[in-house]
Amino acid sequence: MQKQFTPLYRIWHWTMALSVIGLLATVALRKSFLSWRTNTEIIMTKFQDAGVEVTHELAKATAKAIRSGMWEWHYIFAIFLGISIAIRIYMMLTKQAKLPIVNFFQASIFEKKMQTGVYTLLCFFIMMMALSGGFLYFYEALGFTKDSIHWVKETHELMMWGVIVFVGLHLVGVLKHELTTKEPIISKMIHGD
Ligand code: HEM
Ligand code: HEM
Repeated sequence: MQKQFTPLYRIWHWTMALSVIGLLATVALRKSFLSWRTNTEIIMTKFQDAGVEVTHELAKATAKAIRSGMWEWHYIFAIFLGISIAIRIYMMLTKQAKLPIVNFFQASIFEKKMQTGVYTLLCFFIMMMALSGGFLYFYEALGFTKDSIHWVKETHELMMWGVIVFVGLHLVGVLKHELTTKEPIISKMIHGD
Protein backbone atom coordinates (compact mmCIF):
# COMPACT_ATOMS: atom_id res chain seq x y z
CA MET A 1 0.00 0.00 0.00
CA GLN A 2 1.31 3.49 -0.95
CA LYS A 3 2.05 5.74 2.01
CA GLN A 4 0.30 9.08 2.57
CA PHE A 5 2.17 11.89 4.29
CA THR A 6 -0.16 14.69 5.42
CA PRO A 7 1.20 18.28 5.61
CA LEU A 8 1.22 18.14 9.44
CA TYR A 9 3.09 14.81 9.38
CA ARG A 10 5.70 16.32 7.05
CA ILE A 11 6.02 19.47 9.18
CA TRP A 12 6.53 17.22 12.23
CA HIS A 13 9.12 15.07 10.42
CA TRP A 14 11.23 17.91 9.06
CA THR A 15 11.08 20.01 12.24
CA MET A 16 12.43 17.00 14.12
CA ALA A 17 14.93 15.91 11.45
CA LEU A 18 16.41 19.39 10.92
CA SER A 19 16.61 20.14 14.64
CA VAL A 20 18.40 16.82 15.31
CA ILE A 21 20.81 17.49 12.41
CA GLY A 22 21.39 21.02 13.79
CA LEU A 23 22.00 19.70 17.32
CA LEU A 24 24.54 17.17 16.00
CA ALA A 25 26.24 19.94 13.97
CA THR A 26 26.69 22.13 17.07
CA VAL A 27 28.28 19.16 18.86
CA ALA A 28 30.60 18.50 15.90
CA LEU A 29 31.75 22.16 15.98
CA ARG A 30 32.17 22.11 19.77
CA LYS A 31 34.39 19.04 19.50
CA SER A 32 36.47 20.28 16.53
CA PHE A 33 37.07 23.87 15.32
CA LEU A 34 35.57 25.45 18.44
CA SER A 35 37.03 23.03 21.02
CA TRP A 36 38.16 25.15 23.97
CA ARG A 37 41.13 22.84 24.60
CA THR A 38 42.56 23.23 21.09
CA ASN A 39 41.80 26.95 20.93
CA THR A 40 43.33 27.63 24.36
CA GLU A 41 46.60 26.18 23.04
CA ILE A 42 46.35 28.26 19.83
CA ILE A 43 45.68 31.49 21.79
CA MET A 44 48.58 30.83 24.18
CA THR A 45 51.00 29.99 21.35
CA LYS A 46 50.05 33.07 19.28
CA PHE A 47 50.40 35.43 22.26
CA GLN A 48 53.70 33.84 23.27
CA ASP A 49 55.02 34.19 19.69
CA ALA A 50 54.14 37.89 19.86
CA GLY A 51 56.01 38.18 23.17
CA VAL A 52 52.87 38.77 25.27
CA GLU A 53 52.33 36.81 28.50
CA VAL A 54 48.87 35.29 28.76
CA THR A 55 47.73 33.01 31.57
CA HIS A 56 46.14 29.62 30.84
CA GLU A 57 42.96 30.79 32.62
CA LEU A 58 42.61 33.87 30.38
CA ALA A 59 43.28 31.86 27.21
CA LYS A 60 40.67 29.27 28.28
CA ALA A 61 38.08 31.95 29.09
CA THR A 62 38.71 33.55 25.66
CA ALA A 63 38.35 30.18 23.86
CA LYS A 64 35.06 29.49 25.69
CA ALA A 65 33.77 32.99 24.88
CA ILE A 66 34.49 32.40 21.16
CA ARG A 67 32.57 29.10 21.33
CA SER A 68 29.58 30.41 23.28
CA GLY A 69 27.82 32.19 20.37
CA MET A 70 27.83 28.98 18.34
CA TRP A 71 26.69 26.86 21.31
CA GLU A 72 23.60 29.07 21.77
CA TRP A 73 22.37 27.24 18.65
CA HIS A 74 22.31 23.99 20.65
CA TYR A 75 19.52 25.56 22.70
CA ILE A 76 17.77 27.15 19.69
CA PHE A 77 17.64 23.76 17.91
CA ALA A 78 16.54 22.23 21.23
CA ILE A 79 13.48 24.53 21.19
CA PHE A 80 12.61 23.29 17.67
CA LEU A 81 13.04 19.70 18.84
CA GLY A 82 10.63 20.50 21.68
CA ILE A 83 8.16 21.97 19.15
CA SER A 84 8.38 18.79 17.03
CA ILE A 85 7.73 16.61 20.10
CA ALA A 86 4.68 18.76 20.93
CA ILE A 87 3.39 18.37 17.33
CA ARG A 88 3.79 14.56 17.54
CA ILE A 89 1.96 14.44 20.90
CA TYR A 90 -0.87 16.52 19.38
CA MET A 91 -1.00 14.15 16.38
CA MET A 92 -1.20 11.14 18.69
CA LEU A 93 -3.91 12.72 20.84
CA THR A 94 -5.96 13.52 17.71
CA LYS A 95 -5.35 10.02 16.29
CA GLN A 96 -3.35 11.31 13.30
CA ALA A 97 -0.29 9.26 14.33
CA LYS A 98 0.58 6.44 16.69
CA LEU A 99 3.26 5.94 19.29
CA PRO A 100 6.18 4.31 17.37
CA ILE A 101 6.17 1.30 19.73
CA VAL A 102 2.48 0.66 18.94
CA ASN A 103 3.37 0.56 15.24
CA PHE A 104 6.15 -1.89 16.14
CA PHE A 105 3.81 -4.30 17.94
CA GLN A 106 1.21 -4.03 15.16
CA ALA A 107 3.70 -4.77 12.37
CA SER A 108 3.16 -8.26 11.00
CA ILE A 109 5.85 -8.75 8.34
CA PHE A 110 9.58 -8.92 9.13
CA GLU A 111 10.56 -5.85 7.05
CA LYS A 112 7.92 -3.69 8.74
CA LYS A 113 9.03 -4.96 12.17
CA MET A 114 12.63 -3.91 11.41
CA GLN A 115 11.53 -0.48 10.14
CA THR A 116 9.21 0.28 13.06
CA GLY A 117 11.83 -1.14 15.46
CA VAL A 118 14.38 1.39 14.14
CA TYR A 119 11.82 4.23 14.51
CA THR A 120 10.92 3.15 18.05
CA LEU A 121 14.57 3.15 19.16
CA LEU A 122 15.32 6.39 17.28
CA CYS A 123 12.39 8.13 18.99
CA PHE A 124 13.44 6.61 22.34
CA PHE A 125 16.97 8.05 22.05
CA ILE A 126 15.66 11.44 20.87
CA MET A 127 13.27 11.59 23.85
CA MET A 128 16.14 10.69 26.22
CA MET A 129 18.26 13.48 24.69
CA ALA A 130 15.42 15.98 25.10
CA LEU A 131 14.74 14.97 28.74
CA SER A 132 18.39 14.84 29.82
CA GLY A 133 19.16 18.05 27.86
CA GLY A 134 16.24 19.89 29.42
CA PHE A 135 17.39 18.71 32.84
CA LEU A 136 20.97 19.90 32.16
CA TYR A 137 19.64 23.29 31.09
CA PHE A 138 17.36 23.80 34.11
CA TYR A 139 19.34 21.94 36.83
CA GLU A 140 19.98 25.06 38.90
CA ALA A 141 16.31 26.11 38.84
CA LEU A 142 15.42 22.53 39.83
CA GLY A 143 17.67 22.80 42.89
CA PHE A 144 20.59 20.57 41.81
CA THR A 145 24.31 21.31 41.96
CA LYS A 146 26.73 20.95 39.04
CA ASP A 147 28.59 18.07 40.75
CA SER A 148 25.41 16.07 41.40
CA ILE A 149 24.32 16.11 37.74
CA HIS A 150 27.58 14.99 36.19
CA TRP A 151 26.12 11.56 35.40
CA VAL A 152 23.24 13.22 33.51
CA LYS A 153 25.75 14.98 31.26
CA GLU A 154 27.58 11.69 30.67
CA THR A 155 24.26 9.96 29.84
CA HIS A 156 23.36 12.84 27.49
CA GLU A 157 26.69 12.42 25.67
CA LEU A 158 26.45 8.61 25.53
CA MET A 159 22.86 8.59 24.23
CA MET A 160 23.99 10.75 21.31
CA TRP A 161 25.59 7.61 19.81
CA GLY A 162 22.18 5.92 19.86
CA VAL A 163 20.76 8.86 17.88
CA ILE A 164 23.64 8.72 15.37
CA VAL A 165 23.35 4.94 14.84
CA PHE A 166 19.55 4.97 14.38
CA VAL A 167 19.52 8.07 12.16
CA GLY A 168 22.10 6.23 10.02
CA LEU A 169 19.97 3.06 9.89
CA HIS A 170 16.90 5.18 9.09
CA LEU A 171 18.65 6.87 6.15
CA VAL A 172 19.90 3.52 4.82
CA GLY A 173 16.35 2.09 5.10
CA VAL A 174 14.74 5.08 3.36
CA LEU A 175 17.33 5.02 0.54
CA LYS A 176 16.84 1.27 0.09
CA HIS A 177 13.06 1.79 -0.16
CA GLU A 178 13.59 4.62 -2.68
CA LEU A 179 15.91 2.56 -4.87
CA THR A 180 14.27 -0.87 -4.67
CA THR A 181 10.54 0.00 -4.92
CA LYS A 182 8.51 2.12 -7.31
CA GLU A 183 7.45 4.48 -4.51
CA PRO A 184 9.40 7.82 -4.48
CA ILE A 185 9.22 7.96 -0.69
CA ILE A 186 11.79 10.75 -0.15
CA SER A 187 10.12 13.26 -2.49
CA LYS A 188 6.74 12.33 -0.96
CA MET A 189 8.13 13.17 2.47
CA ILE A 190 9.26 16.56 1.06
CA HIS A 191 6.28 17.71 -1.00
CA GLY A 192 3.49 15.25 -0.27
CA ASP A 193 1.61 12.96 -2.66
C1 HEM B 1 18.07 13.40 11.94
C2 HEM B 1 17.32 13.21 10.93
C3 HEM B 1 16.03 12.40 10.90
C4 HEM B 1 15.23 11.93 11.90
C5 HEM B 1 15.45 12.08 13.39
C6 HEM B 1 14.12 11.23 11.27
C7 HEM B 1 13.11 10.57 11.95
C8 HEM B 1 12.09 9.85 11.39
C9 HEM B 1 11.10 9.06 12.10
C10 HEM B 1 11.03 8.92 13.62
C11 HEM B 1 10.27 8.51 11.18
C12 HEM B 1 9.12 7.56 11.48
C13 HEM B 1 7.82 8.26 11.52
C14 HEM B 1 6.71 7.48 12.18
O1 HEM B 1 6.93 6.41 12.73
O2 HEM B 1 5.57 7.99 12.14
C15 HEM B 1 10.72 8.94 9.87
C16 HEM B 1 10.15 8.61 8.68
C17 HEM B 1 10.63 8.95 7.45
N1 HEM B 1 11.76 9.72 7.18
FE1 HEM B 1 12.99 10.51 8.54
N2 HEM B 1 14.26 11.32 9.92
C18 HEM B 1 15.42 12.02 9.65
C19 HEM B 1 15.93 12.35 8.42
C20 HEM B 1 15.36 11.99 7.22
C21 HEM B 1 15.90 12.32 5.91
C22 HEM B 1 17.18 13.12 5.67
C23 HEM B 1 15.03 11.78 5.00
C24 HEM B 1 15.12 11.84 3.50
C25 HEM B 1 16.22 11.53 2.86
C26 HEM B 1 13.97 11.13 5.72
C27 HEM B 1 12.89 10.50 5.15
C28 HEM B 1 11.90 9.83 5.81
C29 HEM B 1 10.82 9.12 5.16
C30 HEM B 1 10.61 8.99 3.67
C31 HEM B 1 10.04 8.55 6.19
C32 HEM B 1 8.80 7.68 6.02
C33 HEM B 1 9.23 6.25 6.04
C34 HEM B 1 8.07 5.30 5.98
O3 HEM B 1 6.99 5.61 6.51
O4 HEM B 1 8.28 4.23 5.43
N3 HEM B 1 14.21 11.27 7.07
N4 HEM B 1 11.85 9.75 10.03
C1 HEM C 1 19.78 14.94 19.36
C2 HEM C 1 19.81 15.81 20.31
C3 HEM C 1 21.02 16.23 21.10
C4 HEM C 1 22.34 15.88 20.98
C5 HEM C 1 22.98 14.93 19.98
C6 HEM C 1 23.08 16.56 22.05
C7 HEM C 1 24.42 16.40 22.30
C8 HEM C 1 25.11 16.98 23.34
C9 HEM C 1 26.48 16.72 23.69
C10 HEM C 1 27.40 15.72 22.98
C11 HEM C 1 26.79 17.48 24.75
C12 HEM C 1 28.13 17.53 25.51
C13 HEM C 1 29.03 18.54 24.88
C14 HEM C 1 30.37 18.60 25.58
O1 HEM C 1 30.42 18.78 26.81
O2 HEM C 1 31.39 18.47 24.89
C15 HEM C 1 25.63 18.26 25.09
C16 HEM C 1 25.55 19.16 26.12
C17 HEM C 1 24.40 19.79 26.48
N1 HEM C 1 23.18 19.72 25.88
FE1 HEM C 1 22.68 18.53 24.32
N2 HEM C 1 22.20 17.31 22.76
C18 HEM C 1 20.94 17.14 22.24
C19 HEM C 1 19.77 17.71 22.68
C20 HEM C 1 19.70 18.63 23.69
C21 HEM C 1 18.48 19.24 24.13
C22 HEM C 1 17.09 18.98 23.56
C23 HEM C 1 18.80 20.09 25.12
C24 HEM C 1 17.83 20.97 25.87
C25 HEM C 1 18.05 22.20 26.20
C26 HEM C 1 20.25 20.01 25.34
C27 HEM C 1 20.97 20.70 26.29
C28 HEM C 1 22.30 20.51 26.57
C29 HEM C 1 23.00 21.15 27.66
C30 HEM C 1 22.39 22.13 28.68
C31 HEM C 1 24.31 20.69 27.62
C32 HEM C 1 25.46 21.05 28.59
C33 HEM C 1 26.26 22.16 27.99
C34 HEM C 1 27.49 22.51 28.82
O3 HEM C 1 27.80 21.84 29.80
O4 HEM C 1 28.14 23.49 28.44
N3 HEM C 1 20.75 19.10 24.45
N4 HEM C 1 24.62 17.93 24.22
